[in-house]
Amino acid sequence: MSYTRARLQFPGPPVKNFLIGNLDQTMADDVHEKWVQWNREYGHVYQTWNGLFSRMIYIGDPRIIAEIATSNWPKSAAQYDGFKPLDGDALFITSNHEKWRMQSKRLAPAFQPNNYMRQLDRAAQTNSVIDLSSLNILLSLDFIGDIAFGTSFNAINQGPDCRIAQLLEMILPELMKCGLFPLRQKIPIFKKTRIMNSAITELRNMAYDAVKDARRGDLTEDGSSKIKPGKKIFEILALQREEDGNYTFNSEELCDNYVAFLVAGGDPTAHTMSFLVWQVLRNPAIYSQLRAEIDASIPYDAEVATLEHVKLPYLNMVLKETLRFGSPGFGTFRICTKDTTVAGVTLPANTTLALWNPAVHRDPRLWENPDKFDPERWRSGQAKLRGSYFPFSYGPRSCTGQGLAMLEMTLTLATLFRRYDITPEPGFEMEYLPSFTLKPKNGFPIRNALYGLVTGQVKNGNGPIGTRKASPNDRGVDPGPAATRESGFAEVAHNRQ
Ligand code: HEM
Repeated sequence: MSYTRARLQFPGPPVKNFLIGNLDQTMADDVHEKWVQWNREYGHVYQTWNGLFSRMIYIGDPRIIAEIATSNWPKSAAQYDGFKPLDGDALFITSNHEKWRMQSKRLAPAFQPNNYMRQLDRAAQTNSVIDLSSLNILLSLDFIGDIAFGTSFNAINQGPDCRIAQLLEMILPELMKCGLFPLRQKIPIFKKTRIMNSAITELRNMAYDAVKDARRGDLTEDGSSKIKPGKKIFEILALQREEDGNYTFNSEELCDNYVAFLVAGGDPTAHTMSFLVWQVLRNPAIYSQLRAEIDASIPYDAEVATLEHVKLPYLNMVLKETLRFGSPGFGTFRICTKDTTVAGVTLPANTTLALWNPAVHRDPRLWENPDKFDPERWRSGQAKLRGSYFPFSYGPRSCTGQGLAMLEMTLTLATLFRRYDITPEPGFEMEYLPSFTLKPKNGFPIRNALYGLVTGQVKNGNGPIGTRKASPNDRGVDPGPAATRESGFAEVAHNRQ
């Protein structure tokens, strides 16, 4: 197709400068809102230009999304090549799909948020501001460390000094830009790109060390492999051998997967939890309904919600709505190998297709009151239309960690709301920033107090908290001027910008 015809093939935002195309808009901090507007203004299929010749076609029609995702059109190399320096060819989701399926029962014992609660208990005791967003990121890293690698990253205890969190923060915002425009990574003229490149090298070196550790002393004396039940996923992969005795995965592939786990498994879960808490706190009716459900399901003296406690349909509705309203994972880039017509739209060969959920999830043609946060829309269960809701992507290449993420979030949030009264800092408004995932732009400063203790003695915490009476409307804390900042988490949030 000629360049001029391609320019006119689909509507889209005007290009001010042909050399850069729409990159000035697609790399801006408010691009997630632009995606929503463009879909409303230009229709279900529109295009933007990444520079002079490379274009991206955004698909907002659920019929086309469902078709592309379920027939598993290939991922678009042009975009994913931009992510390759970080996680190369992470392949654990292709040939080893079944092996990698995470069953919630098997993973449940890894949920031990004691350090998380210790930080929050201490903040409650000292009436300090704590950045829930940073704390959630560190919790998710510890969770992934435990589940996937069997090593504690000790992220929460290290707080702002956690090197993995620091490296990811140097990498992820820049990585998305390199995904949109891969040349940016190859010719690193920006300082942020150079910082990202050296952070990637450091993170990959950590991953190589982990591979060596996992393989140290692998074989038993009789030559059989030491894979035993109960080994963590990364060790299973590292030690797995083919019939000829060679390892199934080479060090490079394992390293790719190590990094992919960190990237995919940490931030989106953490940000979803922060977004949910924010939405719940600003909607008192939702808050009290959620509180009532959690109070009725989890005993007063339970320190941590466990699988036996968590049949929480309303929390599930609130989670689904959080993932509709602002999903941290935007979707997937696909490509069609030849001109293909789906639902009356001809998609041109070899063009990147963005199956992007921010616009689809808030499309007034698909959702009633799309800009309202309303968990009630999930009362009847699933989204009405296939392809209209895909926070974890869709089809065979959708998120492998979906079950795990839902489990981690349910247990954490149930514990959080069961144990604490939370209040955002006065004047705080959550702002959303598109990084590699959608994240809180300025952290999430909160204060918390222990909830529901008639006489307060915090188990596993740091001593007596005081006397408080349980009430769903009692937010507990009066943030006095003498309040202190806790553990440097607020500072982490600042450094993360
Ligand atoms: C709320 C939390 C999460 C959200 C919203 C989310 C969302 C997504 C999305 C949208 C994709 C598609 C990406 C693409 O096609 O480019 C994806 C893929 C993936 N996610 Fe998640 N994710 C979450 C948590 C997790 C966790 C906890 C893990 C693992 C520990 C994980 C592992 C993966 C993997 C391995 C893929 C690649 C699948 C493939 O390409 O075949 N995710 N996720």
